[in-house]
Amino acid sequence: MDHQGYWAIAEADIEIQNPVTDRKLRLLDDYCDIRDGLRVLDIGCGKAWVMRQWAERLTIEGTGLDINPAFLEVARRKPPARGRLQFIEAPAEQFSPTPASYDVVLCLGASFALGGFVQAVDWMTSAAKPGGAVVIGDLTLKHRPVVNAHQHLPLDPVDLVATVQRHGAEVSALISASDADFERYVSHHRHATLRWPASIQSIVTTTTCSKRAAAIGTTTSRRSAHTWAGSSLSAARRTDYSAIRRKNRLTPTAKDGQWRCTMASS
Ligand SMILES: C[S@@+](CC[C@H](N)C(=O)[O-])C[C@H]1O[C@@H](n2cnc3c(N)ncnc32)[C@H](O)[C@@H]1O
Repeated sequence: MDHQGYWAIAEADIEIQNPVTDRKLRLLDDYCDIRDGLRVLDIGCGKAWVMRQWAERLTIEGTGLDINPAFLEVARRKPPARGRLQFIEAPAEQFSPTPASYDVVLCLGASFALGGFVQAVDWMTSAAKPGGAVVIGDLTLKHRPVVNAHQHLPLDPVDLVATVQRHGAEVSALISASDADFERYVSHHRHATLRWPASIQSIVTTTTCSKRAAAIGTTTSRRSAHTWAGSSLSAARRTDYSAIRRKNRLTPTAKDGQWRCTMASS
């Protein structure tokens, strides 16, 4: 069994594949100023819960990308009432969006698919229109371990916000996972993978697959259950440099093409 097979089992029964609740995700309606006519891109969309519930209510035009066919099958199952959604089964790194073409760009728990957090923010701000919403969710560092056993530790929420800001987007809000959100998410994986072998007929397949599932599952739950692990979504807006230039009366100098402030801002 490969990783995708494992995740298809571990997340078969959940629609939101992150340690976050539907109630918290609904805050994105406001943070992204979601409304009719917006173009939305969701990288590593999984079952695309966020885009699907937007498309039920609004005439958004959404594109979701994921490599796991089992998740996309669920995402495609029920056409939404109002919006139009298309799903592409492909690795995120092979997708080249037209720069500045989306009103909302989401990547919830899949920044690794774009090469890591910083690379994902750069990629996303480039795909978003100036002023467009950029929402990225990732593991964060809740408590710095006293002794670091050579683990690669994620950014803490303050550094996460600072990194997004340095890479072209203004953060307006954070949505963080609680201990209960983590417990529910990780317990679900554990429960689903331990229950799964009972539904398989072949003893050989069961033994091989359950060993594999247990191995991947144990590693994953161990990692997620670490006391240092948190998870946060940051909701930001791609910085609209032209608006800033207008506000600060910036004009390019004839000499070197650099932007200079010609008048003090009001
Ligand atoms: C933690 S899940 C998050 C799913 C969804 N965003 C959500 O919040 O419900 C990560 C997703 O990234 C997808 N993924 C992993 N590698 C990928 C890649 N190279 N390109 C696109 N998607 C990928 C997985 O299949 C999975 O659906």
